[in-house]
Amino acid sequence: MKKPPEERGISGGEATPVVRSRYASVAIALHWLIAVAILTNLWLGWCMGHAEGMDQFRLFQLHKSVGITVLLLAIVRIAWRLSHRPPPYPAGMTPFERRAAGGLHALFYLLMLALPLSGWVIVSASAYNLPTLLFGAVPWPHIAPVHDLPAASRQLVEDRTRTAHMWLAWLFLALIALHVAAALKHHFHDRDDVLARMLPRLRRRARNQG
Ligand code: HEM
Ligand code: HEM
Repeated sequence: MKKPPEERGISGGEATPVVRSRYASVAIALHWLIAVAILTNLWLGWCMGHAEGMDQFRLFQLHKSVGITVLLLAIVRIAWRLSHRPPPYPAGMTPFERRAAGGLHALFYLLMLALPLSGWVIVSASAYNLPTLLFGAVPWPHIAPVHDLPAASRQLVEDRTRTAHMWLAWLFLALIALHVAAALKHHFHDRDDVLARMLPRLRRRARNQG
């Protein structure tokens, strides 16, 4: 069966630009996959310090595997985002709200790269020199220019990056809370379709926005 025009990303006649009223399936899948992976890794990050022995080693390996997966998926997602226009904001959003949403989303993309990269720097600089085996199967290298630094510089880089990794994680958690609050406000207070268009199976409440 032929899809309605907005599902195909077509807003009108031949000459009109492509305007979607909801996110494409690829964008939705990437959003939720990455969100679950990040939340899992925040939880793992704060749990693994309390484990001991082999349990701790396994949790660290899992944390590194999920984190590197986030890094790779984030690269795919950013490439997708740069080549696909998102649906326009609802007409009722003020210029300030639009700028705030855009700024927060840009910050999220930065954090999706910065957090895994800083973790990768920590393990590359660490004097323990532990290998990383993604999901117990795929060997992942250290960052050579970091790993090859003299011992004293490596120690300094490790300490600084460890602190950065921790603060970036807290910043991420705070921004996620803000982001979820904004999504719920749109859904329950403003009653627009901002949340529904990021969910695969919810029916949209409003159709003619933006
Ligand atoms: C989405 C990605 C990631 C998130 C959300 C995340 C989150 C966290 C959190 C919350 C902690 C605990 C921080 C603390 O309170 O001390 C942590 C620690 C750590 N993470 Fe990550 N991380 C991510 C990616 C990575 C990656 C890719 C690696 C390595 C390849 C990594 C390596 C580490 C290490 C080695 C520690 C322990 C640092 C210490 O000993 O204090 N992380 N991470
Ligand atoms: C780790 C968690 C999350 C991250 C990193 C994240 C990140 C993002 C990013 C970067 C966008 C912008 C997409 C674009 O480029 O247009 C976005 C959109 C969105 N997110 Fe999340 N998200 C997370 C969790 C959630 C959760 C739990 C919810 C639901 C309550 C949610 C609801 C939404 C909605 C509704 C949009 C669409 C906003 C719009 O249409 O302008 N997100 N998210």
